[in-house]
Amino acid sequence: MEKFVINGGVPLKGEVEISGAKNAAVAILPATILAAGKCVVENLPAISDVDVSLHILQALGAQIRLLNRNTYEIDTTFMTGTEVPDDLSRQMRASYYFLGALLSRFGRAQVAMPGGCNLGPRPIDQHLKAFSALGAADSVDYGMISVRGKELTGAHVFFDKVSVGATINGMLSAVMAQGQTVLENCAKEPHVVDLANFLNMCGADVRGAGTDVIKVRGVQRMHGCTYSIIPDQIEAGSYMVAAAATGGDVLIKNVIPKHLEPITAKLVMAGAEVQELDDAVRVSRTGEIRPIKINTMPHPGFPTDMQPLMSVMLSVADGTSTVTEGIWDNRFRYVDELTKMGANIQVDGQVAVIEGVPELMPAPLRASDLRAGAALVVAALMANGTSEIDEISHIERGYERIVEKLEALGADIRRVERNPAALSQAL
Ligand code: EPZ
Repeated sequence: MEKFVINGGVPLKGEVEISGAKNAAVAILPATILAAGKCVVENLPAISDVDVSLHILQALGAQIRLLNRNTYEIDTTFMTGTEVPDDLSRQMRASYYFLGALLSRFGRAQVAMPGGCNLGPRPIDQHLKAFSALGAADSVDYGMISVRGKELTGAHVFFDKVSVGATINGMLSAVMAQGQTVLENCAKEPHVVDLANFLNMCGADVRGAGTDVIKVRGVQRMHGCTYSIIPDQIEAGSYMVAAAATGGDVLIKNVIPKHLEPITAKLVMAGAEVQELDDAVRVSRTGEIRPIKINTMPHPGFPTDMQPLMSVMLSVADGTSTVTEGIWDNRFRYVDELTKMGANIQVDGQVAVIEGVPELMPAPLRASDLRAGAALVVAALMANGTSEIDEISHIERGYERIVEKLEALGADIRRVERNPAALSQAL
């Protein structure tokens, strides 16, 4: 029942430090199961999806110690559990990574159909294709997915669809299989590479991550390691858009500029100035926002997770933009909220035609999913006046200390806890 209250119209100025990547963290935490020893994982973002992953590990028997705000020691040596508690697995999409990791170490796993953002159908057939190729059997019963396979054997897997999740589960399940596994038509996202690097630090033999073909030579044992997670490409991209959209000037620190290139390219086309430094980017805008075309694609294409944020900025461009969503069926749900703010956007299937309007107006808003929620935060920062955003738990699944970070950039944003008692007295 918490909400954000944002007084918009202020250009963001200053510096912001980017946290560790959510989508790498939620893959690397289950992967600690394979190490069967102590792992120290650094640069973990303090967000609810990471909390849920840690709770799952604990429920399965891992020993977890907080070393500092973003560093945990995870010891899975004496872990025995193979069934992920339902209530936890339904809280986030990435709980499916426990299938691959538990299958690899214990030969069996059970996870409830994962939750997460509602972006349209989110099948896991390609994950199961990889498990089955390695010799595991699967069954789906009453919303529970079970996989079993004592002696996994390396195999050739050609993914019919480029899938981040299936590529990651393919690697997790193959690292201790007998012989070599070749995964083809793989996702190339930075978090896929980060997981491969983590697995290799733990003694695995994974080659080719970041290309279409990943080769995994099975090893008999893996061990613990100390590993620091890469910076979050999408969190960085969100602050880049927020800086450009509000006509601000922000130094975004602790990033890998190479990972941001698809976002940088589109921001520059839209009229922003982006200066790339060693491990930072500086984003500013003084001129008009120019209309552009965006087509979301797997990495290194323009990331779908940035699509709602860019569309918000383009809603005040000087002309007509088109945005084509190439990954998810249902990723324009934020458009109704933007329409309340005066945006002129027509959605036809997977294409949104955005007719730029002079400005957005403040409005009461509701976050329908993580990135839609972040996009509405940017919209509220652009609009002159006070907007309120409900259902912010979606946003807090993926953005560490968003209120503090935006306040440090001069934004007027408050997180308001609604008091249920006061609410019922008022009714
Ligand atoms: C990951 O989801 C991210 N989540 C998503 O980020 C991101 O939008 C997505 O990749 C695409 O980049 C995590 O990493 C936890 P996919 P994932 O498997 O792995 C189809 C965010 O906001 N598909 O790459 O679930 C699927 O329907 C979240 O941080 C199959 O057909 O996505 C989609 O059309 C939201 N069969 C496409 O592939 C499968 O077995 C890509 O999905 C798997 C996927």
